[in-house]
Amino acid sequence: MQVNNQKIVVLGTGGTIAGESASETESLNYQAAQRSIADLLKPISGQTMQGPASIQPFAIEAVQVAQIDSKDMDFEVWRRLAVCCSDHLSRDEVKAVVITHGTDTLEETAYFLSQVIHIDKPIVLTCAMRPANFKDADGPQNLRDALNFAAQARGRGVWLVAAGEIHHSQYVQKVHPTRLNAFDSGEWGAAASVHEDQIKWLKSFEKNKPQSGSNGILKAIDLPEVAQWPWVEIVTHHVQSNGRALSLLVKAGVHGVVVAGTGNGSLSASLKDALLSAQSHGVQVCVASRCNQGPVLPTENHVFKTAGELNAVKTRVALILDLMSKQKKSEADLFESGSPFSI
Ligand code: SIN
Repeated sequence: MQVNNQKIVVLGTGGTIAGESASETESLNYQAAQRSIADLLKPISGQTMQGPASIQPFAIEAVQVAQIDSKDMDFEVWRRLAVCCSDHLSRDEVKAVVITHGTDTLEETAYFLSQVIHIDKPIVLTCAMRPANFKDADGPQNLRDALNFAAQARGRGVWLVAAGEIHHSQYVQKVHPTRLNAFDSGEWGAAASVHEDQIKWLKSFEKNKPQSGSNGILKAIDLPEVAQWPWVEIVTHHVQSNGRALSLLVKAGVHGVVVAGTGNGSLSASLKDALLSAQSHGVQVCVASRCNQGPVLPTENHVFKTAGELNAVKTRVALILDLMSKQKKSEADLFESGSPFSI
C-alpha cells in the first residue's frame, strides 16, 4: 500500500537559529551554526513542548545539509540544497520540506529554490534573530510555526515563516539588522500571519499573489558543477557613478551585471555608456532599483532589461539562472547540430 504525505523533512543549514552565545543574555555576539538540526527539533518533538496539532500526523525527518553562517552561503551549498529539496519532495510520503537558514542571505536562497524546484509541494524556510541559548530565543517558535505552516500549505511555493508572519519568496527581504521582525515584503505585504498556531491568510496578499512557479526551465538536477556557474556582480548607481569599476569587471571576465539604479532604475550618462560598452563585449545587463520597495516600471528611457519586482540580489540570482539556461540550450543545440568533436 502506498502512503502519501506522511513526512515533513527538515533540512538544517546553520544560521543564528542554530547559534550560541557566551551567555543567555547576549544576543548580538555569538557564533552562528553551532547546534544540529536534530537538537533544534528536540523541544518540538520531545516532551517539554508539544508541536502544533497540525503536525501530529507527520513524522519529522531531520537532515543536516550544511552548518554555516549564511553570510558564507555559496553555490556549492545551494546546489546541494536544491538537489536535496528535489529528492525529498519527489518521495510520495513527503508532504513538505522545511529549511532552517541564517537570516542574512535567506531571501536569495528562497528565491533561488523557487526557480529551480518544480515540484507541486511547499518549501518553508525559517530562521531566528537570536541565538538558540538566548533566554527569549525566537527560533523555537519560528520553527514550530514553520512546521505548522508546512503541514497545512498546499501546492508549489517557497515561503519564509518568522516572527508570526508568512512571506512569499518573490517579495520577502531582510529589512532590519537586529529587530526580531527583520523581514518585510514591502508594498506587497506578508501573505499570512500565524498566532497561537492559527494561520490567517491576508486579503491583501490574495490580490498580489505571484504566479505559481517560475518561467525558468532549469531544474535542480540540471545545475552544472559550480565552476561553470556564470559570474554576475551587482553595481550600485550613486552620485559620481562612473564606469571605472565596471570596466575592471569586464576586463576580469564578468558574465553579467545587475545595476541597482536610483529610483525607477535611472543611471547617470557615464554609467549608462559604460554599461553599453560592457554589453557590446557580451556582458548581460539588467537594471533593478536601489530603493527597498516597489517594482521598476519600464519606460522608453530604459535601454537595458529591467528587473520588475525583484530586488537587486534576487535579480542577480535570476540573471545567473538565465545565463545558465542559455548555456545549457546552446550546448543542446550544438549537440543536436552535431558537435565538431562528436564521432
Ligand atoms: C546568518 O545569516 O547565518 C547569521 C545571521 C542570522 O541568522 O540572523
